[in-house]
Amino acid sequence: MRININGKTQELWTLWREGVDVKMIDQRLLPHKFEILTLHCHCETAEAIRDMAVRGAGAIGVAAGYGIAQAALEAKGMELKDFQAFVSEAANTLQKTRPTAVNLFHAIDRCIKAASKGSVIERIASACEEADRIALDDLEASKKMGEFGNTLIGDRCRILTHCNAGALAFIDNGSALAPIRVAHRSGKRIFVYADETRPRSQGAKLTAWELKQEGVPYALIVDNAAGYYMRQGEVDLVIVGADRIAANGDTANKIGTYEKAVLARENGLPFYVAAPMTTFDIKCLTGKGIEIEERNPDEVNWVWGVDEDDVYTKVRISAEGTTALNPGFDVTPARYITGFITDVGVLKPPFSRSIRKALHIEKGNVN
Ligand code: MRU
Repeated sequence: MRININGKTQELWTLWREGVDVKMIDQRLLPHKFEILTLHCHCETAEAIRDMAVRGAGAIGVAAGYGIAQAALEAKGMELKDFQAFVSEAANTLQKTRPTAVNLFHAIDRCIKAASKGSVIERIASACEEADRIALDDLEASKKMGEFGNTLIGDRCRILTHCNAGALAFIDNGSALAPIRVAHRSGKRIFVYADETRPRSQGAKLTAWELKQEGVPYALIVDNAAGYYMRQGEVDLVIVGADRIAANGDTANKIGTYEKAVLARENGLPFYVAAPMTTFDIKCLTGKGIEIEERNPDEVNWVWGVDEDDVYTKVRISAEGTTALNPGFDVTPARYITGFITDVGVLKPPFSRSIRKALHIEKGNVN
């Protein structure tokens, strides 16, 4: 992504690998501070995923793949048996970081499979190659989603999005924001409503920042305002991302997505989910099988930001001792979804069939 920091323009990925080190934009600090984190081992990468220095389905998938590559490199001098045990343990650690986005599990599986044949040296090389390939696949998928999604966006289209499914949620470009970038770059006069997305405020902190960097006309709105703008006739299209999509099309995405989908239906608006095929989980038959991450209630009771003196600080917004609940995601039933903008095209209902076809999976071959 092209980023302008203090008047200097740079082209950057959200995260990348330099030998055993993983480097990433520290998303916890955006948009107030721009820092690159260096993670020296798979444990540090796991912690960065858990603490959301890197977040978003595609990006955490790539980070987890890099984590396996790091573990393989860390185990360089070991005997084959110990190497295998070390890498499996690393996979375990990485799998426990965040439960909902399936990209993380897909990436770990891919790298573990790659690291399961040959000598230790060959296994290390394969794990690193596979991790790098996952990053490149992610990049390519975002480009394709941008092109396919752009066909749904007309001139003067007003689009509402929720959370951050932008470049920062992938290697670059994003899922929901990819078509928006393509439409804007092709000269369409679009406007984006970005939901702030409490409690972590990915919309306010990340989506608004990305749209500003890209020069897309936008407005940040509070989560509760989406229905108001839809009812006023000021929204033409909703595009959101996804963290896991079941075989029937039920979709887990950031908490608050479900109500946007219901509101879109009530107001006769198309509701699209943009996601690469790596976000589909064919083993999960319906949304009921998707684990929803329950996060620390402190995220509801406290907010981070900068004060008037530009000091990055944390403030409590509720009374001390307040009980809070903090589900990270919700599931939107497939019936509210108009289509999926994927890297292989726009999938239409009936989703059980179009998803299966897109994944080239024959009935009875689901394992
Ligand atoms: O908790 P996060 O920030 O990792 O949540 C993921 C998301 O950003 C959203 O749910 C997004 O819409 C889909 S990720 C491409």
